[in-house]
Amino acid sequence: MVVRISGTAFNKFGLNAVKLAMHASADAKLPVFPEMNQERTRSVRIIDGKASAARLRAEIAHRVQTLSSRHGVTPGLAVVLVGDDPASQVYVRNKGRQTREAGMQSFETHLPATASEQELLAQVARLNADPAVHGILVQLPLPSQIRETAVIDAIAPAKDVDGFHVINTGLLASRGTGIIPCTPLGCLRLLREYLGSLTGMRAVIVGRSNIVGKPMAQLLLRENCTVTLAHSRTRDLAAECRRADILIAAVGQPRLIKGDWIQPGASVIDVGINRINVSTADGPATRLVGDVDFDEAVAVAGAITPVPGGVGPMTIACLLSNTLDAACAQHGVDPGSLDVSEAGHTDAAGASAPQGTST
Ligand code: GUN
Repeated sequence: MVVRISGTAFNKFGLNAVKLAMHASADAKLPVFPEMNQERTRSVRIIDGKASAARLRAEIAHRVQTLSSRHGVTPGLAVVLVGDDPASQVYVRNKGRQTREAGMQSFETHLPATASEQELLAQVARLNADPAVHGILVQLPLPSQIRETAVIDAIAPAKDVDGFHVINTGLLASRGTGIIPCTPLGCLRLLREYLGSLTGMRAVIVGRSNIVGKPMAQLLLRENCTVTLAHSRTRDLAAECRRADILIAAVGQPRLIKGDWIQPGASVIDVGINRINVSTADGPATRLVGDVDFDEAVAVAGAITPVPGGVGPMTIACLLSNTLDAACAQHGVDPGSLDVSEAGHTDAAGASAPQGTST
């Protein structure tokens, strides 16, 4: 008895355009398909977030140009980093570079790890008042002497391109509008691009954070999914996951989600970015892995995001998209009027408009 799984694997794994062929014996730890008596072929789609993000950034750059030439407005994004966390430094550097590449203005502030809450709030107040700044992002986590909620509350909701302010979370929950957090927005864009309509699908989200899990649940509800928001106290997490047509892993535990937690053919979005220690022929090293055990999951899923190269690149692209939308809103410009379809670009997976009814 043989299961053959074929598909195009992602180039970060050195397998781009290569057929994955897995042959498994009957007792191997693989899903049991009802029709497994005969050899069958199944495709797994590796969701290429890097390519989708590059397309989205190109569209944004085109719109930024149009906004600037027609309305004399150049969107500006301010990013504030407190302290010297190496991962945060990398994220902030990437955000600045991609902001400039999209033709926007990038403003970066670096405060020492010893900065007080008052100092950070004063910086936020300056950015709120600066007309050249349309979006503000304070990189999280913050040092322990600073309350994250106090800082998020201080950002003008119209400039809150993270979508973390209670005004924006409330708008998303009650009206399906407002500025939407970048990571869940990126996940939604990938799902729409790869699956089309999500109506009626069962979605299971693992992780109830304010940054990903909760807004993701709201977004998928808005898409007419039936949503389960699972978390560390969920009973029989594996069984909950197995019910999912769409499984979102956002829990921060390396390779928690195993192959036999996944419904055959399900779409799996891995938000986790975990650095783990590995031993190599050259000695100890580190490696980035997701919350999903990719090697097991790829044998079961219908579509899956890799780590790295899946959700991560979409998060920054959506930050740029939110900044452009915020600049438009602050200058009374309809973002739709900057549409780039005439130039041969399309926004087929555009994910900002609410879908369907609210019953
Ligand atoms: N730290 C990790 N992810 C995020 C994010 O989406 N926004 C901010 N501000 N900080 C983060």
